[in-house]
Amino acid sequence: MVAVSRVKENVKTPAEKAPEPNMGDEVIPKDRYLSKEFMQLEWDRMWSKVWLDGCREEEIPEVGDYITTEIGNESILIVRGEDMKCRAFYNVCNHRGNQVKFDKCGNAKTLQCAYHYWEYALDGTLMNIPDEEDFPQGCPRDKLSLKEVRSDTWGGFVWFNLDPNCGPLEEFLGIIPEHLDAYHFENMKMVMNTTIEWDCNWKVSVDAFNESYHVQAIHPELTYMLDDVDIQIDLYEKHNRYLIGFQTYSPRIDEPDEVPEAIAEPMRAIGMNPDDYDGKVAEIRRDMQIFKRQNQDKLGRDYSELNDDQLTDDYHYYIFPNLTLNTHSDSMMMFRQRPHESDPDKMYWDLQMFQILPEGTDMPLPDHEQYGHGEKSVGLVLDQDSVNVPHIQKGMKSVGFEGLWISTQERRIRHMHKTLMDYINGEYANDA
Ligand code: FES
Ligand SMILES: [Fe+2]
Repeated sequence: MVAVSRVKENVKTPAEKAPEPNMGDEVIPKDRYLSKEFMQLEWDRMWSKVWLDGCREEEIPEVGDYITTEIGNESILIVRGEDMKCRAFYNVCNHRGNQVKFDKCGNAKTLQCAYHYWEYALDGTLMNIPDEEDFPQGCPRDKLSLKEVRSDTWGGFVWFNLDPNCGPLEEFLGIIPEHLDAYHFENMKMVMNTTIEWDCNWKVSVDAFNESYHVQAIHPELTYMLDDVDIQIDLYEKHNRYLIGFQTYSPRIDEPDEVPEAIAEPMRAIGMNPDDYDGKVAEIRRDMQIFKRQNQDKLGRDYSELNDDQLTDDYHYYIFPNLTLNTHSDSMMMFRQRPHESDPDKMYWDLQMFQILPEGTDMPLPDHEQYGHGEKSVGLVLDQDSVNVPHIQKGMKSVGFEGLWISTQERRIRHMHKTLMDYINGEYANDA
């Protein structure tokens, strides 16, 4: 068995353990996952008050590029204006309520509603109204232009907040930019963009990726590529993380004699020879960190802002309420959990992958795909995660189940609930 050694000195991302808040050990009420009343409370007090990821800046690079994104009952239209600024609007025409754009994305010189051709400029200003003189009440532009939603950018993402009185994005993100700027998400390219409709509450999905307790049960293969036990968990004000060592093996198993394929493959990809490590698997994680550091020029990378652990490990962040980031030195896999518009038993699971591509690589954005649970494979490990989710939602409804019985290693789930209940109880209501 090998314990994961952890870098203590900071390069940029703080690596030290955060103080542990006392969150108690009560059962977490299952109603939060099941009831329509709680779902409505979440909308009124949380979803409509928090900063949310709307799209990537790279998805709307040119003037007139737009994208629509759904959160609950709302469709939000994000548009690149003449001034290159990204703006977010409620995707609704102020004439008779048609949606201004029906499609997922496109490019337009102006935003014209398809019903009676009311036409809005890219900054939302109402420009043209056919037969305008036919409205005896007039058509005041300040009332009838597209309703803008607060928006901002960080990390190559466009964020929006439905609360006109919200505080700045930076304040909401808190520790996140300080922790994650070193990865330069803005330089990563989106290489996968898929939405899967899952038959579970959005929080079932958040929970599924916020603990490593389930690895020994449903992902036995992962015990041959990461340490699911000796992980550092840090709970901050709203967000949290765990640091999980990759290119190693779980203390739940004996040291493998041969290098497991899941460890060997990333070694070969950077020019290391796994055959040199048969019988010495415990040495790989550290040697790989040294190798990547020494060969960064050959690899076409600059790791100077990352600490050694970050060259192998997953710095796994949860940005409240709905982003799960598996952060690696050259890539990031993100899950975005979006609630269903009306049914607490359903959600949208957005799976997006990002990579630093070699300089000069000109790759088109991936097409967005959307499909139902289980219709297609998303790879062995994520398929394993997906199997349980509808059964968790069903199981929770049973009178035989009282609520979530949370262990210490699952405390990011308790922390998410603490932040959620702070919103529900109005703790952040006066943020402005
Ligand atoms: S609803 Fe948009 S122009 Fe009539
Ligand atoms: Fe999992």
